[in-house]
Parts: sequence; structure tokens; C-alpha cells
Amino acid sequence: MFSLNKHYIIIIVCACLSYQVISARGASVSVGVNQEDDDFLNGTFPEGFMWGYATAAYQIEGAWNEDGKGESIWDHFTHRLISPIIDGSTGDIACDSYHKYAEDVELLKALGANFYRFSISWSRILPNGTNDVVNQPGIDYYNRLIDLLLENNITPMVTMYHWDLPQALQANYGGWPNESLVEHYENYARILFENFGDRVKYWITFNEPFNTCELGYGLSIAAPGILGEAIQPYLCAHTILKSHAKAYRLYESEFKPTQNGQVGITIDTEWMEPRNSSNPDHEEAAERARRFKHGWFAFPVFFGDYPPVMREMVDAASAAEGRNQSRLPTFDDNWKTLLNGSLDFLGLNHYTTELVAPGGLCLFPGWSCDQHVTKTKDPNWEGSASAWLKKVPWGLRKLINWIKDTYGNPKVLITENGWSDAGNSGLNDTQRIGYYTDYINNVMKAVILDGCNVQAYTAWSLMDNFEWANGFTDRFGVHWVNFTDPDRPRIPKASTVALKKIFDDNGFPEEK
Ligand code: NOJ
Repeated sequence: MFSLNKHYIIIIVCACLSYQVISARGASVSVGVNQEDDDFLNGTFPEGFMWGYATAAYQIEGAWNEDGKGESIWDHFTHRLISPIIDGSTGDIACDSYHKYAEDVELLKALGANFYRFSISWSRILPNGTNDVVNQPGIDYYNRLIDLLLENNITPMVTMYHWDLPQALQANYGGWPNESLVEHYENYARILFENFGDRVKYWITFNEPFNTCELGYGLSIAAPGILGEAIQPYLCAHTILKSHAKAYRLYESEFKPTQNGQVGITIDTEWMEPRNSSNPDHEEAAERARRFKHGWFAFPVFFGDYPPVMREMVDAASAAEGRNQSRLPTFDDNWKTLLNGSLDFLGLNHYTTELVAPGGLCLFPGWSCDQHVTKTKDPNWEGSASAWLKKVPWGLRKLINWIKDTYGNPKVLITENGWSDAGNSGLNDTQRIGYYTDYINNVMKAVILDGCNVQAYTAWSLMDNFEWANGFTDRFGVHWVNFTDPDRPRIPKASTVALKKIFDDNGFPEEK
């Protein structure tokens, strides 16, 4: 979700080196695979399919230190003396949704959204991260938002953690790599269920834990900005998975019987396509990459443990490095039981595809090296404002089918999918319309032709917002936000009309 910025020269050097290796082998790129899947399908989704938009607290709320809110790791990170953000910006004000939430609800209503996926800022509720101080104005804010959504027939879907850990938990414990956070997260979860569970029926424990762990504690390009690639991301993931399991079990035993909601986790992944689809080594490498990326978090919540291929490869790499313990931690039987089946739905964030081949340059030990793969993009794929995001609509259909086959056709809610531009096209965002149309069409193929159990689609995002290390340079919104105007006006782009039609039509019925 980030492009590499000026402070991370080592990473840039690595990226360049691997790019050269890849282009030397460029001839084997299979361009235009699955052309036949690109035929447009007319049809509609099953009745009851849900349509919505997503945002996240740090990216839109602003009011970073108002009404008793505590500092988060993103406040801390963006306030560094030398900014780690590409345009030097912060989320101090962002879209000012803390004050303008009523306008956001109006937009959602005008868009015909059935639900709104937003996140709760932990440090707005618990300024120190712990339940010694509960900040009532923070609770009041989310109550106002939830009530207004419901008054407008929009279902709230709450992300409990979208990357903004209270800074106190980072400073006092070192953040997610420390297992003490399991207890703090469980306490926080209880406060959310107690205060909002009478009205909130969809809970997402974590958003994209991969990014929290690998970018935040491995590559240092996200908050808290720690460079610890070899071990820290694995420890971070371990704590997050345990925290998820605890929150799921807490809800299941104490809240579900009366509140009747559902709890899931949102895991992100690209589709990993073999670079040369007729080479079995490439298919094997692609499957390895799927398991290292999606399976890292999804295998434990579906099956109770990490994918065997991760266990094997990280154990072997650790031994080869002369360590007496694997860099990948283990779950004891109790944790395996708590984790196994700890989800009512699988949240899926997906944006793009990678071409995968075996091997690759390995400069330092860690998650990237452990899987022995090289990832590239097809130069013919249409590009967005974000270096990592290219348009490959059939990738989403393949991914959803892979999820069906790998995890036994679970209930999937697509919790994010979307396209960035640099704002040059102004309000006439035809590329974004093309992206949404083709991606949603592929979701429909997966549902009505392939029998995949996808029940919701969420567009990222309701409006342009703070795109993490890329600041305000990459715009993902269907509303244009003017970040130099203190009022932060939201102006509809052409994509609002196109998406409203798809939502209202429940897909793409044949025009009469
Ligand atoms: C992933 C994240 O959940 C969201 O915060 C981010 O802005 C989008 N994808 C786009 O990068």
C-alpha cells in the first residue's frame, strides 16, 4: 500500500537489483493470460448481496488530539522531525470526519450504500491503550456516527484495528511483537462490544495484519517505523493472531448469545499468478507465495496453525542461519484450539496481481526471502498513481476461487477494492470507473458462474484521504477532497454515478 520513500535507500537499492534480474528474464512473462476471462458478463448478484464503502479512522477523522484522544503510532510517526511521509503531510486534520461525519453519512445515502465500513481509533476510546482511562467523548463520537447510519438504513461494519495502535502501547511494550498486547486488545474489544454491540453486527478484528507487521515492524515504511525484518514481523503476526482469537472467543461466549453479530478478520493479498503458467515450478512458487501472504494469517484462523510450507521453509532458513530456534513462533495446543475456526466471515482486501517465479535475490533474512520467490508486474497492465497497483481484473476472480478451494468455500466479504489516481483527471475519473466495472464483473463471475460464497463488496474509498506513507498524493476516493480548504469539501467524481448504478442494479443486468 506504499511506494518507497526518500528515507529508505537500502530498500530502493534492493528493489532495483531485483528488478534487473527480473527484466533479464522478461521474455518468459506470459502476457494477456486468461484473455477469455475478460469477456463481460451480464447478470445480477444473488438477492441480499451487500454493497458498501470503506474508510479508516486515521485516514479520515483528523482531530488527532481533541476531546481526550491519546496519541497513536501514526500520530507519532507522522510528527517525526524528518517526515517519513512522501509529501510531508499528516493525518492531523485529514478529511476532518470527526466533525463532518454527518456529511459523510449523507454521501453514503446518496450513493445507495447498504453498509459503511469504518474503523474505531483505539486511542480515542482508551487514550493510553489500557482500560485505566476510558474516554467518554470518544465513545460518544462513535455512538453518534452509528446512530446516524442506522437512522439512514446503513448498516455499520466496524474495523476494530486499522493500524493506529495507541502510542503508549508501543512505548511501554514495543508494540505488537510483544505478547502482552493480547490482553490489552481483549480489554479494548470488550469495551467495544459492550458499548456498541447492541447496534453493530459486523466486527472486523484486524485490517490487513500483513501491513501492520511487515511494513511497520519489518521494512519500517509504516508506523511505528521499525526495521526488524528477520524476526519482528513474525512475532507481530503471532500476537495479532492470538489477539484475534481471544476477541473472537470473547464475543462468542459473552456477547453473541444476546447481540447476534458476526466477527471476522480482513486479510489482504494480491493474486499470485505463475509468471509462466506452463512451468510447474512457477505454479509451485506462486502457491508458495499465496500461502506466505494470505495463508500466514488465514491458515491459523481456519485450521489452527501456520501453513506447513511456512513452517518448513522458515525453520530451515533459521537453522541455516545458525539459530537454535525458528524465527517463526509456534502455537501450543490450547492456542491452536482457540484459533481453529475463529471467524464467522473472511474479510478480503484485494487490489492487484503479481507474476511469480521461483528464486530471487536475497539480501537479508526475513519474510520476503524465506519464500524463495520473485514477483513482477506485466508491463502491459494499466497503471494507477500507486506504483504497486495495476489493473488485472481476472486476478480477483482467480483469487476468490483459490479461497473457495483452499479454505472450503467460506463466507467472504470483500472489504476493500479500489483504484488510485494522482488527481490529474479531476472529477472525470474514467479509469476508476473502468477498474470498478471490470473487477466487480469478475466478482460476479466468481459468484454466479463458479459458486463462490462472496456476500458483500466494499469500494475503497468513500473519499480521497490520507494514503499512509504516500500522504495525499494517491487519491482513492469517489469524492474529491480539497485538502487545502479548511472546510475539506467533498465533491462527487463521475465514479459515484457509475457505482451507484451497479449497486442499485445489484450487478449488470442486460439493458432493455
Ligand atoms: C489497504 C488499506 O486497508 C487502506 O488503509 C489503504 O488506504 C488502501 N488499501 C489503499 O492502499
